[in-house]
Order: sequence, then C-alpha cells, then structure tokens
Amino acid sequence: MPKLPSPPRPRILQPSPKRPGQNGNGNGKMTPLETGVEAGITVVDWIDERTSLSGGLRWMLFRKVPKGINWFYTLGSATMFAFLNQAVTGVFLAMFYRPDASGGAYESIRYITDDAFLGQFVRAMHKWGASVMIILIFLHMGRVFFFGAYKYPRELTWIIGVVLLILTLAMGFTGYLLPFDQRSYWATIVGVNINGTGPLIGPYLSDFLRAGPEFGATTLSRFYAIHMMLIPGLIAALIGAHLYLITKLGISAPPWIKAEEEEPALQEARV
Ligand code: HEM
Repeated sequence: MPKLPSPPRPRILQPSPKRPGQNGNGNGKMTPLETGVEAGITVVDWIDERTSLSGGLRWMLFRKVPKGINWFYTLGSATMFAFLNQAVTGVFLAMFYRPDASGGAYESIRYITDDAFLGQFVRAMHKWGASVMIILIFLHMGRVFFFGAYKYPRELTWIIGVVLLILTLAMGFTGYLLPFDQRSYWATIVGVNINGTGPLIGPYLSDFLRAGPEFGATTLSRFYAIHMMLIPGLIAALIGAHLYLITKLGISAPPWIKAEEEEPALQEARV
C-alpha cells in the first residue's frame, strides 16, 4: 500500500525562527532571560492556536479614539475598576460572613472587623468602594449626558447603562442589611416599606424583598443571595455587553470637536 504523505506539523511544533541575540545557528544556548521569553511566547501561542483569542483582544484593546478626548472619558473605566474592587473584596468577606439572623451575621462582621487578618482593611475597602462606585457611575453618566454621547447610534449603550445604574443602587441597598445591626435593620425596613408604596408593582416588590410576612431571617438570606450572586452576575454580563457596544461603535468625539467637524459641511450646505 502506498505511504500517504504525513500532514504538516502544527505551527507550535515547528522550530521557532532565530531571534536577535540568539547565538550560533539557532541551536546554540539561550540566556535564562531568552528562555523565559521563549517559554512565554510558546504558552501564549499554544493558547492562541486553540482559542484564537488574540484577534478579539486586539479588536477590543487596539482601537482608534477621536481627537480631543480628555480625563472625563476615563470615568467609565474607573467605574469598572470600582466594580472589580467590590468583586474581589466581596469574595474575601464572603469567606467569613454568615447570613444568620439570630446573632451570627453580626458576630461574623465583628470577627472580620476585630480579629481576622486584614479584615478591617478589606471590609473598609468594600464599604468605601461601594460609595466610590456610586459616585463614579453618576459622574460617568453625567459625562455621557452633557457630551451628548447617548445619541444615535449609542442609545442601546445608554439603556444598558441605565440598567447598570439601577443594579448598582440595588447592590448598595441589599448590602446595607448584611451587618444586621440596629442601623441596617431599621434602615432596611424603611427602604422595603418605601418600595411597597411604588405604583402597581410596589406591594409585590416589598413582599419579594421581605421574603415572607415578617422581616427577619428569610429576608437576610434573600438579601445575601441577591447581593452576592444575582446582581453581581447581572452587572458583570451587562458590563460585557456595554464594552462590546463601546468597542463596536467607537467612542464619541467631544461636542466641541463635533462642532468643528460639522463646520465645513454646513458651509458647503450654505453655498
Ligand atoms: C457599572 C457601570 C458602568 C461601567 C463599568 C461603564 C463603563 C463604560 C466605559 C469603560 C465606557 C468607555 C468610555 C468612557 O469611559 O466614558 C463607557 C461608555 C459609555 N457609557 Fe458606561 N459604564 C457604566 C454605566 C453607565 C451608565 C449608568 C450609563 C448611562 C445611563 C452609561 C452610558 C454609556 C454610554 C452612552 C457610553 C458611550 C460614550 C461614548 O461613546 O462617548 N454607562 N461606559
């Protein structure tokens, strides 16, 4: 039987081309640094050959931005980093927190604050980070509004942003109950009652939040599940959609640059 030609070797198994600084005919010894760099390249190549991720990353990261953009355009990324801070510190807090209404929740928070290694620091990062995220999201929304960046074709980016804003506020509301001290208990009762006064869905919403006829153990479990799983998952997914649209549509130019660009067209129209 004739021997079939062997298929070409995958790129990853082919000898890499000679790099500057590589001595001899390519088989010579490499310095430890060159070996490290080569290993890094090989790992990245290996992953990329199987996933083709680099194309998507290049599409997302290496894009042109309009002239005239300034520090106000960093507020969206700042909000995203505030969210990442909340996610990371939240994971560490969840390692010690117990959603137990009969004193366990309060005690676990006391343990985090007074006894756990760096507990007070991580808790403060999470607590202050929540306020920072809310301030940043409003500033970012203000930038988008005052620069007119919500207009065609970015309406959907804005609508997703509105949902992100509501979810971020809901994070603050559900997180506030978790220490289960006097302040958080009574403040949340007031908040749930205010929700109950809303038109049409108000009473259903407050029933859903209370998770039963009485405000207590079931409410705390529900708030904890919403705070730590439901809303963060939704926020992460929506940030992904938000960033996809931003990359696809490009960042809008500041209004004064748009005005400059429109001038020649207007002049032409007048002629
Ligand atoms: C978790 C919350 C949010 C994150 C992480 C986020 C992230 C970002 C990022 C990174 C950008 C790129 C440009 C920039 O930074 O200005 C952006 C743009 C944009 N965001 Fe957000 N955003 C959030 C909330 C919102 C909200 C609340 C709104 C409005 C209701 C909004 C509407 C928009 C719009 C319309 C753009 C396009 C702006 C342009 O093209 O100039 N975003 N967002």
